[in-house]
Amino acid sequence: MTAPEALREKVESVGQGHVLAFYDELSSEHQDLLRRQIEAMDFGQLSEWVETYVRRKPKFDLPADVQPPEIVPSDGGPLAKSAKQRGEELLAAGKVAAFTVAGGQGTRLGYEGPKGCFPATPVVKKPLFRLFAEQIRAAALRYGVTIPWYILTSPTNDTATKAHFRQNDYWGFSPKDVIFVVQGTMPAIDFNGKLLLARKYRLAVSPDGHGGSLSALRKSGALDEMASRGVEQISYFQVDNPLVRSLDPLFIGLHDLAGAEMSAKALPKREPMEKLGNFCVIDGKTRVIEYSDLPEELARSCLPDGRLKFSAGSIAIHLFRRSFVERLTADGRCLLPLHRADKKVPYVDPAGGQTTQPAEPNAVKLEMFVFDALPLAEKTLLLETRREEEFSPIKNMDGADSLATSLHDQVRRWATWLESVGIGVPRDADGRVAAAVEISPLYADSAEELRKKVDKTITISPGQNFYLGSRGQIGGS
Ligand code: UD1
Repeated sequence: MTAPEALREKVESVGQGHVLAFYDELSSEHQDLLRRQIEAMDFGQLSEWVETYVRRKPKFDLPADVQPPEIVPSDGGPLAKSAKQRGEELLAAGKVAAFTVAGGQGTRLGYEGPKGCFPATPVVKKPLFRLFAEQIRAAALRYGVTIPWYILTSPTNDTATKAHFRQNDYWGFSPKDVIFVVQGTMPAIDFNGKLLLARKYRLAVSPDGHGGSLSALRKSGALDEMASRGVEQISYFQVDNPLVRSLDPLFIGLHDLAGAEMSAKALPKREPMEKLGNFCVIDGKTRVIEYSDLPEELARSCLPDGRLKFSAGSIAIHLFRRSFVERLTADGRCLLPLHRADKKVPYVDPAGGQTTQPAEPNAVKLEMFVFDALPLAEKTLLLETRREEEFSPIKNMDGADSLATSLHDQVRRWATWLESVGIGVPRDADGRVAAAVEISPLYADSAEELRKKVDKTITISPGQNFYLGSRGQIGGS
């Protein structure tokens, strides 16, 4: 069958006729796939993207007046007690949902499956999804409620992610309380403004960035579903950080008492040039400026007392008021800006039909970043957190932010909790923990919880694989 006239006209009128180069030789099933992909595309918007992001390379213009933001100290400041209580009330009333963004491609880690399936803990080698599931279930048990868990997937890893949950009995959740939300995609566009074919019957696309999570919540019906459950606050975190406290009553309470629409946790950067987004205030609005956009001079500038002016790094832990996400996505689209990244995208040559693996970047990928929602919020709140308690992501195969560094930090955190309640942990001459130590979040998800129940006569020997399971049983070897 030849390409329907209307379809051909639609693509040719915008200079994209090459995407139908193989249409006539495709099976009807493949013709259907390609036709649906093309029909779903807004070509008016595509032309705008080509003009704005491909032909011109958008430059980040740093405004003249950039100030550091106000940040609540990690102990919660004077409101700590009432905030924690407020957070616990909201959790106990079932007004908080957990939301994990897990749609990324994880290419840097070199792991084939969805990143959430990656074995990430020191003794039990729990997949990241299991670790988060146990944290959320621990909170649900503590507060006597059901806490729904929303998980952002992408078209590439949705099937594998769902299979992982099915095969593992949803890690103890009722299947109806784990809600998968598939994020949208953006087409890859070559430097001449042309769409690329990944196959003769498929356009090359990639996930639209974690900023796409907000419109995905809307389009999938998840926002309405949250409303019907009475959820008011969404606790957002990335799939790559095993140390995250996915539901933190202090953070939730501070955010709610401040009437914030969106909040974020911040870390003091290790050094001025650390590769973290920087929290700033511009025109009275809180923003994140990516490390690549903050000039070195500004990154190194200090306050009169000698402290770094822009010391607060973003670790992608947020709270969203559901009503804010509803407002941002009211017309079905999310109004976040796009960011351009130049990538090597393999493509089928429309002239010869062979697949080319480019050695150099050949195309533009467009993504939205969730932190760009901060300046759109009427009110925001930033809470400082402690790196050793809450941040050690697994992003790379080796070096910084790898499995090795995260395992080390997980062991160190759990060891510190044990020591804080009076249980000895073997350490070597340099003070490094000399055993593998892991605690199930279902048993204790903080030092405070551990103190309430642990048997203080427990001993841990050097070199031991020590695991404190969900009922306090000792496992490992
Ligand atoms: C990100 C932040 C950075 C922050 C750091 C903290 C950006 C641009 N930068 O960096 O400011 O300091 O985390 O760890 O985000 N994801 C999706 N869908 C997508 C893209 C990503 O769900 O389309 C998810 C990933 O699964 C992952 C998270 O978002 O959970 C982070 O994505 P990634 O691209 O790895 O961000 P980083 O460059 O590590």
